Amino acid sequence: MVHFEVNGQPASVDVDPETPLLWVLREDLGLTGTKYGCGITECGACTVHVDGEAKRCCMLPVGEVEGRHVTTIEGLGAKGLHPVQRLWLEHQVPQCGYCQSGMIMAAAALLAANPHPNDDEMLAAMTNICRCGTYPRVRAALDEARRPGAKAA
Ligand code: FES
Ligand code: FES
Repeated sequence: MVHFEVNGQPASVDVDPETPLLWVLREDLGLTGTKYGCGITECGACTVHVDGEAKRCCMLPVGEVEGRHVTTIEGLGAKGLHPVQRLWLEHQVPQCGYCQSGMIMAAAALLAANPHPNDDEMLAAMTNICRCGTYPRVRAALDEARRPGAKAA
């Protein structure tokens, strides 16, 4: 058994500890907001937070999150929309939406750690791939989030 916390709730799963966290979230816990894209930690579609840090979980063995706190897109706005989700709506960022939960989770972790990242810091943190090409809108939403005085974490 592997025991951890997901979106503030305890979770126990009877799986091989080497099973990728992504499969456990989607198949065992029914949290399908986290997406499978590449399976090789390249695209970012599977980004979740582990103890508040953005992690791509398609190759992350579930055993490595034993006792840790995982947040998925379903839990990010559990108390209402997260500021990043509100900005994503305002800027109409998503197109097909497939990559967007990962984008939002990456952006939320960035802004929680560094509310006013400079260009280099933002680009280093936002390496998610979007085949719909929403990058200009992601950029516009993040530019608003990181401007002086903004509170988007
Ligand atoms: S599915 Fe995990 S990074 Fe692409
Ligand atoms: S919105 Fe379609 S892949 Fe990003």
